[in-house]
Amino acid sequence: MAEKKKILRALAGETLDTPPIWMMRQAGRYLPEYRATRAKAGDFLSLCYNPELAAEVTLQPIRRYGFDAAILFADILLVPQALGADLWFVTGEGPRLSTISGAEDFARLKTPGDIHATLNPIYETVKILARDLPEETTLIGFAGAPWTVATYMIAGRGTPDQAPAHALKDSNPEIFDALINRITEATIDYLSAQIEAGAEVVKLFDSWAGSLKDSDFLKYALEPTRVITEALKARHPHVPVIAFPREAGDHYIGFAKATGVDCVALDNSVSPEWGASNVQSDGCVQGNLASRHMVTGGQDLIDDTLAIREAFSKGPHIFNLGHGITPDADPENVQLMIDTVRS
Ligand code: CP3
Repeated sequence: MAEKKKILRALAGETLDTPPIWMMRQAGRYLPEYRATRAKAGDFLSLCYNPELAAEVTLQPIRRYGFDAAILFADILLVPQALGADLWFVTGEGPRLSTISGAEDFARLKTPGDIHATLNPIYETVKILARDLPEETTLIGFAGAPWTVATYMIAGRGTPDQAPAHALKDSNPEIFDALINRITEATIDYLSAQIEAGAEVVKLFDSWAGSLKDSDFLKYALEPTRVITEALKARHPHVPVIAFPREAGDHYIGFAKATGVDCVALDNSVSPEWGASNVQSDGCVQGNLASRHMVTGGQDLIDDTLAIREAFSKGPHIFNLGHGITPDADPENVQLMIDTVRS
């Protein structure tokens, strides 16, 4: 058997001389080969549901850069679609969905058991990747966390302050809680199926966790993550879970212990020194270079990359960006980041 993969070692709590590295949105529009395959698929959703082509774009950044992990190519909004929401993408603007404003809309949603009919192609993509990835590369599956997914299902689009979701939470807590529970159950089944197809690690993206304050954070970011992690660990005890409660701020502290996740991904609004003393003290952390460096490059990129590597060098760390790479990034800056981390 091959020596245990570097990402799995870090997730098990090992401090490595050189941190393993991968990048959020590493398969994306900044890569010409991604744009070519997406054009071949027709549009973004057709690419997500085409196992051969989705596996191809997942592999592209592995071939080009030799990242330590590949993240399944899919989207967090496929779960709402599998639950019955209409979903489409407007070029240059982003996702659009049918909205949920009350009991009638909620009643039209499907049950978690129904999601696999839509999501089967995703499990096929995972199977292809489990077969075709280099043996040293870890395969990461993922889903959106319930709050973040709910914000899109309620508003029907991305929103700067998640106001429609906050309004439903405050005006109709019964339906809002039912929606969170429905997404939570679907996410457990979806991630379990990804693991059964060959995902070695799973990650929960809670991109909008930062807009949940105080008890709302505990109820709608921390608790669903705890419930999902507990259910996954019961079914698949050895599969590590990474949580990304983006912009959680002080709520990052103790998050791993309270939820049972194996790693907390940090965004770049917190300093690596703060992350090392307050979060890495409990176990593995992932992060947290600002994505803008992938656009601007140069000495600034090198300095911040080395500072992050140094700050997290005394504990388990997976090097990553603080959020996804953007379409205007220069592929050469990605290589510079990797060379700097591995230097
Ligand atoms: O990270 C990866 O490379 C794996 C694939 C992945 C995508 N989206 C592909 C994608 C993952 C893990 C996601 C997660 C995702 N999707 C999140 C959580 C992480 C985050 O970024 O905060 C969210 C909020 C979404 C929803 C979503 N999907 C939005 C808001 C958009 C439009 C924004 C944009 O950049 O245009 C997408 C589209 C999307 N998802 C693209 C990719 C590569 C770009 C689509 C294209 O090719 O046109």
